[in-house]
Amino acid sequence: KRLIFNMSNRTFTMIKPDAVQNGHIGGILDKICAAGFRIVAMKQTKLSAEKAGEFYAVHKERPFYGELVEFMSSGHIVAAILEKSNAVEDFRKLIGATNPAQAEEGTIRKIYAESIGRNAVHGSDSDENAEIEGNFFFSGLEKF
Ligand code: PPS
Repeated sequence: KRLIFNMSNRTFTMIKPDAVQNGHIGGILDKICAAGFRIVAMKQTKLSAEKAGEFYAVHKERPFYGELVEFMSSGHIVAAILEKSNAVEDFRKLIGATNPAQAEEGTIRKIYAESIGRNAVHGSDSDENAEIEGNFFFSGLEKF
């Protein structure tokens, strides 16, 4: 099946404040590149509580929403759009389970995450969300 335009070869990631503070940006980008992802766009930035709340609005009703928003706005993050065939699924495999205690050996969260909340990286869970989340951080001209 050939499509003229789709996002299935792209995903969106953030290196979260815990991993940035602990000096793991380089180590995490190394693993991402070694796994065959191309960095399409990338920036280090800081989310206001308002922006973090907007990004995670889908989790508004969850008990951990307040904690998640506070944590994600507590320090710098690195946001990036990544490209590879089957990007969303392959990236979720590379980062491992949300809870690092359940993450497989060798996954980014197994290596770098501290807890289910402070879990080092975000990865989009669908092609649709990858596009929405990428657009949240990057304008058209940046997504080359
Ligand atoms: S879901 O429904 O599968 O999408 O939920 P999940 O992927 O498990 O979690 C969604 C995001 O919420 C974060 N999370 C938490 N933060 C703080 N405390 C607790 N207990 C907690 N549980 C989940 C989790 O890290 C996910 O963040 P992202 O950035 O999407 O990875």
